[in-house]
Amino acid sequence: MSGISLSPHVCQVTVSNLECQVVTGVDLFKLGSEHLSLISPALSDYHQVFIITDTHVAPSHLKTVRDLFQFLGVPQIEVLILEPGEAAKQIASANQLWTLLIEHRFTRDALLVALGGGVIGDLTGFVASTFFRGIACLQCPTSFLAQVDAGIGGKTAINHALGKNLIGTFHQPIAVINNLDFLKTLPDREYISALAEVVKYGLIADVDFLGWMEHNIPAILAREITAMHHIVSTCSQIKANTVNLDPNERTGHRACLNFGHTLAHALEALGQYTAFSHGEAVAVGMVFALKLSLQYGLAEPTLERIQSLLTKFGLPTCIPQGYDSERLIEYFWHDKKNSF
Ligand SMILES: NC(=O)c1ccc[n+]([C@@H]2O[C@H](COP(=O)([O-])OP(=O)(O)OC[C@H]3O[C@@H](n4cnc5c(N)ncnc54)[C@H](O)[C@@H]3O)[C@@H](O)[C@H]2O)c1
Ligand SMILES: [Zn+2]
Repeated sequence: MSGISLSPHVCQVTVSNLECQVVTGVDLFKLGSEHLSLISPALSDYHQVFIITDTHVAPSHLKTVRDLFQFLGVPQIEVLILEPGEAAKQIASANQLWTLLIEHRFTRDALLVALGGGVIGDLTGFVASTFFRGIACLQCPTSFLAQVDAGIGGKTAINHALGKNLIGTFHQPIAVINNLDFLKTLPDREYISALAEVVKYGLIADVDFLGWMEHNIPAILAREITAMHHIVSTCSQIKANTVNLDPNERTGHRACLNFGHTLAHALEALGQYTAFSHGEAVAVGMVFALKLSLQYGLAEPTLERIQSLLTKFGLPTCIPQGYDSERLIEYFWHDKKNSF
């Protein structure tokens, strides 16, 4: 994979008139690293830092992040380690964190650090946006999905018993640090699942990138660092560009990011959030949407191309037998993303 550099990629995203840098690279947290200068100026002003992470991430990566804040001379560093998974994205976890912040006498000038996948990122962003009516938050995504998508754009959320992501805010982080070294410990299913979103970016915004993927399947599946660097840099740039056009999801530009997601959400819900991972459901949803688009003039080769690429990545492309179409349609109407 010649011609692809590992030097840090930086892009800018603006939400609610606040700018945020998204930095993608390797060794971003390594002490003494030349790359540290990219992120440390923004971080050295804080006197209180709370790192929120989960039990899958903490053993391998917490020390790296804590060491950085110690190196920067932050006097008070606290940590909350939650159970992994979607169940952590609930009001009880937010309440637990609010309580700890109050007990540890955190002030308006404190910083919350999200060290984890999209679950930790959404929850931490939500608490940061509500504590003292809004304190600073740093996103350090550790899953592939969170690096290419969830960490960027300032959307925060917790789940309600009646539905996913129903309670949330827009809260721009001070920065997003996509440290690719964190991905080394990510399970394969999580990695492959996120590739569905990666294909989505190519489809909605960058046909050359789609071609690059088709020519680099072995390197992508082998999780070569150059391939991951190219993917996260390209996707974070596309996400940033899209959010910049429509920061609060009003004009429809940001809605493109939901391509394939209406059926995906229905499949996830009908499968009780275990049968399909989000990315697997998005893969099926995109192929379904493309099949529908054939009726509106989409050329058949696009459908075949996407279907073939998703299959080579090991992702599903059709609705499994036994899924009741009536119930899927019911879920369609409930999908909040229908009404932006
Ligand atoms: N805010 C947004 O714009 C946005 C966009 C897309 C998705 N989301 C949200 O993001 C969540 C999904 O994110 P996700 O796929 O990252 O899920 P996740 O946070 O549950 O992470 C997936 C799994 O990988 C583990 N993990 C994460 N990083 C790891 C690492 N480096 N090593 C080992 N294990 C690791 C986690 O513990 C978890 O078990 C959903 O709640 C979704 O609603 C938000
Ligand atoms: Zn998605």
